[in-house]
Amino acid sequence: MSSSLADLTACGLDLAVEDTVATITLSRPERRNAMTPAMWHGLAQVGAALPERVRVVVVRGAGPSFSAGIDLRMFSAEGVPGEQRQPSAAEPGFEDFIAGLQAGYLWLRDDRFVSVAAVQGHAIGAGFQLALSCDLRVLADDARLCMKEPALGLVPDLTGTKPLVDIVGLPRAIELCLTARTVGAAEAAELGLAELVVPAAELDHAVADLVAALLSTDAAAARATKRLLSQAAGNTVAQQAAAERAAQAALLRSKLPAGG
Ligand code: ACO
Repeated sequence: MSSSLADLTACGLDLAVEDTVATITLSRPERRNAMTPAMWHGLAQVGAALPERVRVVVVRGAGPSFSAGIDLRMFSAEGVPGEQRQPSAAEPGFEDFIAGLQAGYLWLRDDRFVSVAAVQGHAIGAGFQLALSCDLRVLADDARLCMKEPALGLVPDLTGTKPLVDIVGLPRAIELCLTARTVGAAEAAELGLAELVVPAAELDHAVADLVAALLSTDAAAARATKRLLSQAAGNTVAQQAAAERAAQAALLRSKLPAGG
C-alpha cells in the first residue's frame, strides 16, 4: 500500500486487511471520530491501494460514535492542529479541493468489493455521508443519523445526497436534510437506511456474519452482479436486459478453460 500504516494512524484511521476483507476504523474516539481533510485523503489512499483480492470493505468507528462529522475546529480561526490551511471559497480551485475530499468517499462504490458500514451511536453530517457511501449499513440500536449540514449553513457535499435520495426518495430526503433532524435506528430501518439493526453489543458479530455470507458467493459473479445492479436504476428494461446478457456472457467466457 502506498500510504504507510503510520501515515494512516496520523490521520485518524486504522486499516486491517485480512485475506479478502479490509476493515477501516475511524479511530479518534476521544473526538467521536470527527473527520478532517487529512482523514478524507487517507480514505482515498486506502481505496486506491487496496489489494485486488479484497471482496468486502468494512467501515467502522472506534468508541461510542461512528462519526460526529467534520471536525468543527476546521471552522475556527485556529483550525485543527497538524492540518493544512484549507482554501477559502473565494479562492480559485475551491471546487477542486472539495473533489479531493469527495475522493475519500467515492471509491466505496467500486464494483470490486461490497462496502459495509457498521454504525453505532452518532453518524452526523460527513459521518452520515460516509455510511451512505457504503453499499450496506448495519446499525446498532443506539445509532442516530443526522444530515446536519443545512443547520450549519452548508450543503452535504461528500457524495451523500445521491444515495440518500436513491434510498429514501426525494420528499423524505428533503425533509431529513432541511430539518436536520436525527433519525434513530428503528426509523432508519423503516426508511431503508439500514439493512439490519442489532443490539449494540452484537454489532461486530452481526457484521462478521454478513461478511461471511457475502464471501460465500462466487467472487467473479458477485463483482459482475454488483456492477449490473448498480446500473439498473439508470437503465430502461431493455437496456438492463442487454446488460444482463452481456454480463452473463462475459462472466461465463471468463470461466471457460483456456482455448474454449
Ligand atoms: N468536531 C470536533 N470535536 C468534536 C466533534 C466534532 N464534530 N464532535 C465531538 N467532538 C469532541 C467534543 O468537543 C468533546 O471534546 P472534549 O472532550 O475535549 O470536550 C469530545 O469530542 C466528546 O464529545 P461530547 O459532545 O462530549 O460527546 P457526546 O457523546 O456527549 O456527544 C455528539 C456526541 C452528539 C456527536 C456531540 O459531540 C456533537 O453534537 N458533536 C458535533 C456534531 C456536529 O455538529 N458535526 C458537524 C456535522 S456537519 C458536517 O459534518 C459537514
